[in-house]
Amino acid sequence: MKIFRVILAATAFFLYPAVQADDRQMVKMPEMMQEHMMNNMRDHVMAVHEILTALSEDRLDQAALVAEERLGMSSLDNHGASHMANFMPQQMGEIGTSMHKAASRFARTAEEGDHLTAYDQLNQITAACVACHAGYRIR
Ligand code: HEC
Repeated sequence: MKIFRVILAATAFFLYPAVQADDRQMVKMPEMMQEHMMNNMRDHVMAVHEILTALSEDRLDQAALVAEERLGMSSLDNHGASHMANFMPQQMGEIGTSMHKAASRFARTAEEGDHLTAYDQLNQITAACVACHAGYRIR
C-alpha cells in the first residue's frame, strides 16, 4: 500500500501542471527573504509529518509541542514573521496568520487529549497551507 501511495503522489505531481494553468500571484521579495521563507516551508512540512507521527503513536503532548513551537503563535518570533509579513499581500498574510492560529488551537486540543477534534484542527492547518500555495508563488 505504501508504494501505491508513492505512485499516486508522483502521478498527481506530474499531472498537476497539465490540468491546471499557473495563475498564482507572484510575490516579489529579496533573495535572502525567499531563502528564509523556503527554509521555513521545509520545516513546516517536517513539522506536519512529526505531528502525524506523534498522533499515530498516541503521543498527543508531543504533537501539541511540535505544533505550538514550529507552526503556532509561539513560532512567530523564530521565523521572523513580522518582518516577512511586510512583503506579503494582505490576504497572504492573513492566510499565514490563520495557519499559526489553527496550529495553536490544535496544540491546546491535543493537550486536552481530544483526538477527533485534534484531527479536525490539523485539517484546518493544512487547509491554510493549501490555500496559500494555490494563491501565491515567490519565484
Ligand atoms: C502564507 C502562505 C503560505 C502558507 C500558510 C504556507 N506556505 Fe508553503 N509556500 C508558500 C510559498 C509562496 C511557497 C513557494 C511557492 C513557489 O514559489 O512556487 C511555498 C513553498 C513550500 C514548500 C516548498 C519548499 C521548497 O524548498 O521548495 C513546502 C514544502 C511548503 N511550502 C510547505 C508548507 C506547509 C506544510 C505549510 C503548512 C503547514 C505551508 N507550506 C504553509 C506559502 C505558504
